[in-house]
Amino acid sequence: MLSKKYRFSEKIADAYFDADFAMLENLAKKESVILITDENVFAKQKEKFSAWKTIVLKAGERFKNQNAVNEIIDQLIEFNADRQSFIVGVGGGVVTDIAGFAASVYMRGIKFGFVPTSILGMVDASVGGKNGVDVGVYKNLVGVIRHPDFLLFDYSFLETLPNEEWINGFAEIVKHACIKDENMFDLLKEKTLKDFQNSKHDIGKLIERNVDIKYNVVANDEFETGDRKLLNFGHTIGHAIENTAKLPHGSAVSIGMVAACIISEKINGFSHEETEKVKQLLSKYHLPVAFDFDKQKTWDILLHDKKKSGSDMNFVVLDKIGKASIKKIPLTDLHQIFFNCF
Ligand SMILES: NC(=O)c1ccc[n+]([C@@H]2O[C@H](COP(=O)([O-])OP(=O)(O)OC[C@H]3O[C@@H](n4cnc5c(N)ncnc54)[C@H](O)[C@@H]3O)[C@@H](O)[C@H]2O)c1
Ligand SMILES: [Zn+2]
Repeated sequence: MLSKKYRFSEKIADAYFDADFAMLENLAKKESVILITDENVFAKQKEKFSAWKTIVLKAGERFKNQNAVNEIIDQLIEFNADRQSFIVGVGGGVVTDIAGFAASVYMRGIKFGFVPTSILGMVDASVGGKNGVDVGVYKNLVGVIRHPDFLLFDYSFLETLPNEEWINGFAEIVKHACIKDENMFDLLKEKTLKDFQNSKHDIGKLIERNVDIKYNVVANDEFETGDRKLLNFGHTIGHAIENTAKLPHGSAVSIGMVAACIISEKINGFSHEETEKVKQLLSKYHLPVAFDFDKQKTWDILLHDKKKSGSDMNFVVLDKIGKASIKKIPLTDLHQIFFNCF
């Protein structure tokens, strides 16, 4: 086990890597802890929950809404939860986003911690303090920024994570490599998904490195005025494709990253060889690099994207592999590239 402290303006979050779920007993008084998980994680990891009060949510993004929060609040009342209660979200990003939000509003805010159980949850969703729920088609429309007291990483949860969810999570890992860490990009090139799936040591080190990357970006810009926007690499076009084509998030972001590389070639001097390297790496991790999507529909959604400002769009581009920046692109230029280059 390795413990680290992540400092934010509001609090210090303790992170325990390569830890055992049973360690929860040392982090909070057992009788005050209420776990929140989803039905998949609960069914596949049943023995871990047997000793704890647990609220089990329906699984999936579809259920990441205010109803889930209401359900949690009802069950918290049944458990006689009070200001001393401690909520622990045990699940993927959907669970930790909802659990952090419910804990932040119940009795005006009680303590909470996270045990992320998906790759995406471990390297992305559980880090950075954003919690919330969707409202209809609007993702994460309602929420708060509040950090958990602790993050506990027990890699044995990954033994039951479906393969497609591993792939989904690796899209964010490749994203981190592209924007911040050329050495990690090279490491990913040397290894395969199977290597990481078969080695707790290797996946553990990779997760730790990615948590550090996300933490450093967030800590430099907790309230998203600058650097944090770099985490949107591949996500602007990715989200638009995710909406039109109903692809998994990781697949849409993968295609979005390829598109962002091509835009980087056209406006930022990023080399074509580097775009090819990014494509090869994504393919290696079973992520799509091209897709026959409805361009007009996707463009229309893009125009509604919040990153648009007047006749320009702020767009995350790569300077080189491992370094990104934000460029204001005139919509006319972006339109030209969008319809002619991919
Ligand atoms: N707060 C943030 O900063 C932030 C950042 C990125 C993403 N997110 C949010 O994260 C969510 C996506 O997270 P996700 O990809 O983890 O989705 P998810 O929570 O839906 O998990 C994916 C699937 O894997 C299952 N699962 C998770 N862990 C498992 C395990 N150990 N064994 C078996 N099954 C398991 C889940 O039940 C689910 O079916 C989105 O709602 C997104 O908005 C938040
Ligand atoms: Zn993402």
